[in-house]
Amino acid sequence: MTTRSGRLVDKVAIITGAAGGIGGAIAEAFADEGARVIAMDLARPVATTRWRSDRITPLSIDLADRASIAGAFTEAVKRLGGIDVLVTAGALKAPVTWPT
Ligand SMILES: NC(=O)c1ccc[n+]([C@@H]2O[C@H](COP(=O)([O-])OP(=O)(O)OC[C@H]3O[C@@H](n4cnc5c(N)ncnc54)[C@H](O)[C@@H]3O)[C@@H](O)[C@H]2O)c1
Repeated sequence: MTTRSGRLVDKVAIITGAAGGIGGAIAEAFADEGARVIAMDLARPVATTRWRSDRITPLSIDLADRASIAGAFTEAVKRLGGIDVLVTAGALKAPVTWPT
């Protein structure tokens, strides 16, 4: 696949809320610029979204669950070796209170 400008070649981007409007558009745009993208969202939207680019790897995350966040980011780093760009576009429906 060719890239538009290649500005993000060799960069790894993680996008939360990637099945949503803003996150999805950013994931596709970053992939078009050459980034390898981990597209994170809740399990169901991640499973049903079809991204255009094969540079996009879907991964489920629940941003309301601290263990899920840790697990997803650990898995993302394991798969792609690090994080260059993080976009937080996930939209929680209700505030989360973390246990102290
Ligand atoms: N669309 C706009 O014009 C606009 C403008 C300003 C700010 N925002 C803010 O930007 C954010 C994204 O907007 P959008 O239009 O892309 O929203 P969207 O509803 O299209 O996408 C949000 C995504 O977050 C995901 N999500 C919800 N709860 C989650 C959870 N617990 N764990 C992981 N993912 C979860 C949803 O599944 C969805 O795919 C929102 O916070 C919104 O308020 C949007």
